Amino acid sequence: MLVVFGSINLDLTYHVKKLPKDGETVIANGYTIGPGGKGANQALAAARMGVKTALVAKTGDDANSVRVLNNLKRNEVMTSGVAKSETLPTGTATIIVDEKGNNQIIYVPGANNEISAEQLPSDILHNKNVLLAQMETPLEETVVALKKAKDSGARTILNLAPAQKIPSIVMQLAHYFIVNEVEADYLIKTLKLDPGKNITDKARALSQIGKTTVIITLAEKGCVAVTPEDNIIAIEPPKIDKVVDSTGAGDCFAGTFAACLHEGMDLKSAIKTAITAATLSCLKPGAQNSYPYKDDIRELMKK
Ligand code: RIB
Repeated sequence: MLVVFGSINLDLTYHVKKLPKDGETVIANGYTIGPGGKGANQALAAARMGVKTALVAKTGDDANSVRVLNNLKRNEVMTSGVAKSETLPTGTATIIVDEKGNNQIIYVPGANNEISAEQLPSDILHNKNVLLAQMETPLEETVVALKKAKDSGARTILNLAPAQKIPSIVMQLAHYFIVNEVEADYLIKTLKLDPGKNITDKARALSQIGKTTVIITLAEKGCVAVTPEDNIIAIEPPKIDKVVDSTGAGDCFAGTFAACLHEGMDLKSAIKTAITAATLSCLKPGAQNSYPYKDDIRELMKK
């Protein structure tokens, strides 16, 4: 089983021509309301790969929770590990997407801030399972969850999104570490590393700290991975005509990657599959609603 420890949100997305500058008011073409949150997005992407996936999270006891959980259940994500806060509302995100598919996000954690690593049942943490976490939930709880999983023999993946300052010891808790270029630079700066500008050198520097495999995603340029043994993998994404909305593409990558790893795929194939899934997710608006199924991914990979 793939266990995702992370956030659930309801996303309110405004579609605009151009993202507003400081102090500017722009008029949106319209808005959509849909399920989101990095944890929930990653769980759903994994479930669409056909992998048994459980989400451990916390929502409010409100209508938004019903809406987001229903979507997860419809997509066969197990939600019995989702607790309800007595005081805080379900997390929300306000997203602005421009004509080129670029976005800005304001995240209100709400009940996500009350998640506890104690919600993780120990019987699902063992060497056949994979734990995937991100950074929209409190760092202390994520660290305990990763440690619990790693100590029990499970494989662990941390997607450092959104970027936060972490002690270098956290890097030893994840077998795989996924960041985008901005997050990688932030991490390099806060850990006071100096690998220079080359992307492979950046991944190598981060990889050496925790003896972990570091994957840096580079949007339309693909991604680079460096293993602790210094094996380097660079993959380009399939070409698409137009990005409609890149919201949640990173989550689609992380969830699909975790699913592939769970299924025993080698690192290169897992990255290639994940990058294809993330690319396909940019062709439709929204986060979860844009995620492809296994067959869509396979079909594009054949081309
Ligand atoms: O990564 C995309 C997600 O980030 C959105 O679904 C939104 O909920 C924000 O948390």
